[in-house]
Amino acid sequence: MSRIDRYAVFGHPISHSQSPRIHALFAEQTEQALAYTAQDVPPELFEPEVRRFFREGGKGLNCTVPLKKLAFRLADRRSERAERGKAVNTLALRADGTILGDNTDGVGLVRDLTVNLGLILEGRRILVLGAGGASRGILAPLLEQRPERLVIANRTPDKAVRLAGEFGDLGPIAGGGLEELAGESFDLILNATAASLSGELPNLPEGILAPEGSCYDLAYGRAPTAFVRWGWNTGAAISVDGIGMLVEQAAEAFHLWRGVRPETGPVIAVLNAERKSPLTEPATRRPAGTDP
Ligand code: ATR
Repeated sequence: MSRIDRYAVFGHPISHSQSPRIHALFAEQTEQALAYTAQDVPPELFEPEVRRFFREGGKGLNCTVPLKKLAFRLADRRSERAERGKAVNTLALRADGTILGDNTDGVGLVRDLTVNLGLILEGRRILVLGAGGASRGILAPLLEQRPERLVIANRTPDKAVRLAGEFGDLGPIAGGGLEELAGESFDLILNATAASLSGELPNLPEGILAPEGSCYDLAYGRAPTAFVRWGWNTGAAISVDGIGMLVEQAAEAFHLWRGVRPETGPVIAVLNAERKSPLTEPATRRPAGTDP
């Protein structure tokens, strides 16, 4: 068994994962000795590979698409936020040998929105596009910010209605179809559909983004996503992709595993600098504390 603490991200596919890079930067910054690797694990091998990883001395895992539901089922104990989202993106080996499942995605998004981008969510109108796993994981932390209202709009309306129903006890939330958005206006639009990945955009009516409104794509890539570009073209005050959320969810996992919280700003800056084209227009990723 190696003496250095081992961590990894499991996913399928995994080759483009930024997590090893992010955790290496965190480890360097906080002077923690650890190794973090990426492993391609198809769903059918998930459970034996997780068992093997921990048996061989691994301390913690991140699980990404399409493994978050499987990780939820495998965990011996789950945090409240993981229970709410019905998905787990972080597994941690506890001292008693049991595996804790947590979900740091939602809190990562909210930290990027409120701390890094300086957005105020309280009293604002928020639209979430999509009603899949990515949406489910962010609803509770968004409602915690006490928005005026949160609407989920989905290509398949029933799924949005059902999802909203599950979170109705936490705040003013409603679900429906994309067509029902005509005449509506929102201060923040979050894209949690899989459309971005294929360069597509959900069909959005004119006027859907309020003046000074912002756009946020949970997806990210080397080039601006179709939704980020839509935000720019629609006059959004801020329109960015999910690289900040990725770094923030990683920081929260790092904190759970190591008891130390890394500084995320410098790591986001490094990742942005490494991307070929600037993903943010000069004024669109403002430093914290400069909310308009
Ligand atoms: P994830 O777990 O990553 O959220 P998912 O559960 O497959 O993935 O959900 C993908 C979401 O993207 C769904 O809300 C899907 O809409 P449907 O429920 O109607 O399938 C949405 N989606 C995918 N492609 C889309 C597209 N081209 N336009 C609009 N919505 C799309």
